[in-house]
This record gives sequence, C-alpha cells and structure tokens, in this order.
Amino acid sequence: MIYVGNWKMNQSFEGAQKFLQSLKKRVSEEKQKSYIILSPAVLFGLMKDEFSGTNFNWGGQNCFYKNEGPYTGENSPQLMYEMGARYVLVGHSERRLLFGETHEMILEKAHIIVQNKMTPILCVGESLEQRSQFQNVLKSQLTGFSNISPLMVAYEPVWAIGSGKIPNNLQIQSALSVIKEAVPQSTVLYGGSVNSQVFRTLLCKELEGFLIGKASLNVDSFILE
Ligand code: 13P
Repeated sequence: MIYVGNWKMNQSFEGAQKFLQSLKKRVSEEKQKSYIILSPAVLFGLMKDEFSGTNFNWGGQNCFYKNEGPYTGENSPQLMYEMGARYVLVGHSERRLLFGETHEMILEKAHIIVQNKMTPILCVGESLEQRSQFQNVLKSQLTGFSNISPLMVAYEPVWAIGSGKIPNNLQIQSALSVIKEAVPQSTVLYGGSVNSQVFRTLLCKELEGFLIGKASLNVDSFILE
C-alpha cells in the first residue's frame, strides 16, 4: 500500500521538521518507499534536507503549467523536480472550488509534471449534490488522462473530505472500477476522512493506497496500523 500525506496549508517549520525526523525513525528503510509527503512549497528546502538519501518520496500540492516565465507567485514544476519532488497533486477539490481550477488547467499541469519526470496525483470525486451521477462526474474529470503515464488517481468524494463521513465498500468499488476503466494505467488511491480507525473498512481489490489529510499531520496517526 501507498500512503500519501497531504499536509494542505498546515505545519509550522519546527513541527514539520520534528514530524520528518520522527517518521524516519519509525519507518524501516524498506517501507519508506510506500510513504509520500505532499508539503507546502515554502517547506521544499526542508523536505530536500530531511529526505535526501532516504527512500521516502515527497512532492508538492500544486504547480504551474509552465516551467518558467512572468507568473508571479507560481511554482515551477522544473524547479520542483530539481529540489527533489517526485509527485505533484493536481485537481484537488479545494483547488477546483476555491481557486477556480478548470479541467483544461489540470490536464495541462499533469502533462508538464510528466514531462518533468514526476508523477501527477490527480484527485477526482463527486460532491453530495452529484452523488447520484458520480460515474459521469468521474468520467468527465478523467477525460484526456488516458495517455498520461505515470499517473496516480485518488478517488476523493468531496463530501468525505474533512467530514468524518466515508463511503461504504460498495461505493468505493464502483468508483474505482469507473477510474480503472477510464485510466487503466493508473495507480488508484482513496482519500477522504481516512484514519487508523476506519482505513480497514475501506480496503478493496483495486485499492492501492490512501491519500490522507488531517491524519497525516502527526506521525502517530499517519502510520496506519
Ligand atoms: P481529510 O483526510 O482531512 O479528510 O482530507 C482528505 C484530503 O483532502 C486529502 O487530500
């Protein structure tokens, strides 16, 4: 299983440093490969310092769809790769809703991430109002991604993010089969209120890992066991 921690806009410098040092102590070298931390861009220097020479992977929560230019405030995917990032989250519902990211922008970002030898982690998922047509929502969010490789896709129903509500096993399985049909080359994760109490109920055949928000903020709750 792969465990991806999305810190969102959380962690202090000192808190993040303590987290990374304690994670290194707690996880064996072999298992380090299964963990990916998605940190705020201002902490990339710390990620580089703490994770270089280890088997841990890390990445960003967003990037721009060009490598350089007059784009004040944006982050270059090329520079992210240079710093040591190997994954970038794209299409998180918070970015779609709060920052107006369109499908076209998300697809362009995924292309440039792959061109820079990193793996995009695409978030897809329906809102509560869209629940009855979740298949169509997922299919439209996955349009154009069938030739993106490598690719990870996280099924994150918007209603499950930070709410403590989780889909039942059947709901996850049907979402994962829509995803696998649209993008068979992808590695598929589930995200939304994942923690050590519930993760076992979410396991199913196609599921290869979890995208974890709140529970990824401290090491004890991030290590699901
Ligand atoms: P929570 O685990 O806090 O529900 O967040 C999920 C998420 O948005 C991860 O990207």
